[in-house]
Amino acid sequence: MLWWFIRQLILRTITPSKVVAMRILLTGGAGYIGTHIIVALAANGHQSIVVDDLSNSRHSAIDRVESIISAPVVFHHSDLRDTDRLLKIVEDTHPEAVIHLAGLKAVGQSVAEPALYYDTNINATLSLLKVMEATQIRRLIFSSSATVYGDPETLPLTESSRSGIGISSPYGWTKAMIEQILRDVAHTDPSWQFSLLRYFNPVGAHESGLIGEDPAGIPNNLMPYVAQVAAGRRNRVNVFGDDYDTIDGTGVRDYIHVMDLAQGHLAALNHLSPGVATYNLGTGQGTSVLQLISAFEQACGHPIPYQIAPRRPGDVAAMYCSPAKAGRDLNWQATHTILDACRDSWRWQSTNPDGYPA
Ligand SMILES: NC(=O)c1ccc[n+]([C@@H]2O[C@H](COP(=O)([O-])OP(=O)(O)OC[C@H]3O[C@@H](n4cnc5c(N)ncnc54)[C@H](O)[C@@H]3O)[C@@H](O)[C@H]2O)c1
Repeated sequence: MLWWFIRQLILRTITPSKVVAMRILLTGGAGYIGTHIIVALAANGHQSIVVDDLSNSRHSAIDRVESIISAPVVFHHSDLRDTDRLLKIVEDTHPEAVIHLAGLKAVGQSVAEPALYYDTNINATLSLLKVMEATQIRRLIFSSSATVYGDPETLPLTESSRSGIGISSPYGWTKAMIEQILRDVAHTDPSWQFSLLRYFNPVGAHESGLIGEDPAGIPNNLMPYVAQVAAGRRNRVNVFGDDYDTIDGTGVRDYIHVMDLAQGHLAALNHLSPGVATYNLGTGQGTSVLQLISAFEQACGHPIPYQIAPRRPGDVAAMYCSPAKAGRDLNWQATHTILDACRDSWRWQSTNPDGYPA
């Protein structure tokens, strides 16, 4: 028994997940993924400092996070591109590392308004890098995306799969360009520590049902759309294409629970090291549109109407990753199933039918 206690003590001292509590700057921290990361950070003793211009989020999301973690979150309402203001915030709050989520993310809107996307996503990142340079903060985790892979040549996608070719939207290009900017910056000074996290399809919500995805207008992503149909806010799901070469003809994606994604950021934070490391954050499992609808029906307990529609230009048949590198290097892997994600998404949707309060 005594030996067991000594062993636990030693293990706690040496396990890589054991980290010193840090102050973390979260750009875009009021958004869908950021709010869930704050919860995961708090559970590990870290303090979050959020900078968000609330262009795609509400302050009430931060209030909800505070009630989950029973602690205040430092919040600054500011556009990241306001470099002077950002410098002042960083000088006042002394973060030790940055998780950079801020940016615009609607693929379709980026095709219609490319300049807005390049200006926001690229200039926000450059502004942040200037401030980090000036304040000697050298540790950054970047929210990249599976879109950098374009149309996959082979599956599953690994970090060394072809990227930066055949990307179908300005949104995707901003992610590929920011990755390149960070690689170039790291090249100039070996003290930079960058982790590029390529998210696959984040879904689900915190199990409390207090925070979740709150899209403005018509949801761009499948799961929140299905959730709104399940709640009766929309008539039916359009399934774009049922003649792909997949298990049931519908598109296949790698859906990752947002709390697993949040844990991936903690793991990346614990393993930051000089240079640039790139990781796929996905489950490694493909789920088709019809499989997702069926899992959601199980979660909400009633049928979800859908209709087959023509394929959408630019959509690929299947996208899923190998998360083996993150498993190996970060000791991270997704633990939630697609049914867990549907249940949590439904809890959030059914208890917050209109999203966050204004
Ligand atoms: N959700 C996904 O499907 C997905 C997939 C891959 C990558 N990502 C990336 O992850 C990040 C977070 O995504 P999310 O789903 O939480 O999106 P989100 O829109 O919910 O969160 C982004 C946050 O950034 C803020 N923001 C936008 N421009 C800003 C600016 N100039 N200054 C300060 N704040 C600004 C928004 O108000 C919002 O709160 C984004 O960079 C996104 O591109 C998301």
